[in-house]
Amino acid sequence: MNLLYVSPDDPAPWRAAADEFMCGANFWVWGEDDFDPADVSYALVWKPPSGVLGALPNVKAIFNLGAGVDALLKDPTLPRDIPIVRQVDPRLTSGMVEYIVHWVLHFHRDMPGYASQQRARAWVQHVNAETAKRRVGILGFGELGAAAARILLRLGFTDLAGWSRTHKDCAGVESFAGESQLKAFLKRTDILVCLLPETDATRGILNGETLADLPRGAFVINAGRGSSVQDDALIAALGAGHIQGAALDVFTVEPLPSAHPYWGLENVFVTPHIASVTTPKSAMAVIVTGIRTLESGGVPDHIVDIRRGY
Ligand code: NDP
Ligand code: OXD
Repeated sequence: MNLLYVSPDDPAPWRAAADEFMCGANFWVWGEDDFDPADVSYALVWKPPSGVLGALPNVKAIFNLGAGVDALLKDPTLPRDIPIVRQVDPRLTSGMVEYIVHWVLHFHRDMPGYASQQRARAWVQHVNAETAKRRVGILGFGELGAAAARILLRLGFTDLAGWSRTHKDCAGVESFAGESQLKAFLKRTDILVCLLPETDATRGILNGETLADLPRGAFVINAGRGSSVQDDALIAALGAGHIQGAALDVFTVEPLPSAHPYWGLENVFVTPHIASVTTPKSAMAVIVTGIRTLESGGVPDHIVDIRRGY
């Protein structure tokens, strides 16, 4: 079994995880090791340079080392007749749940307000809003959104909704689906959590019109992809107080350029795409299960639908 690793990230922990879970497999690093492309059986990739995957004539499947496949799908040489599997693993999920729960609580408990009181040395106590009355809405109700919802429900955020392409039956969560229900979903959402993948349909989905559909004083958390947000529109809505605050982990251009206005806005919290980072050991355990499934003639979970874009 020959694995090819193609990623800008350090291969060492991946090699160690491959050794642990796939004893005897070759682990080749693209750009470092000598190998015959015809011998590669599986490719493990994150943001691979265009053309690399199209030059592997016998590759049986591609495992994306993250949840989002937007970078991968931009490669015009990507083989389209083999399974492309995206990452869904417990560590990636728990990392994202922590990030979302952190910011929902941060905004719900008005931590930005207390931070500005601290700067003014003002001791003012406010009555806490009730979790059950804070309407949280998850835009992109997939693996990560549903996992965050489960914990938010346990914390008492029972006025919870999810928006997705297809309708969901998820206990305690009101399901909104498709473009026709987007407005109604936004109108009932005080804290918006965006966990959408980047596709033609989601690019710029949070624009002047849709942000205006949120109630005045709403908060926005974006940990999906930066392209979902039209930055000018969000900055204008933040300036006008229509959006009270935002926590942004992902951006159209990353790293976020140092001159970008987001850095200087008091009501914006910028994190450098760390909401959840793939952990090699945890991810490799999932990948090995996928490889074994394929080797025994089965179909692994979480195959990307290339036409849909995620
Ligand atoms: P999933 O594919 O499980 O979920 C995506 C959700 O978005 C689904 O509910 C899907 O609907 C919905 N969706 C997609 N397109 C549309 C559309 N046009 N209209 C309405 N709903 C739509 O992905 P994950 O939850 O695993 O991951 C989500 C994203 O999070 C990733 O694609 C990635 O971009 C991002 N991410 C960011 C990380 C970070 O550190 N910031 C870390 C990990 C992931 P349906 O269910 O009906 O198909
Ligand atoms: C991912 C990411 O998609 O880290 O996994 O952004």
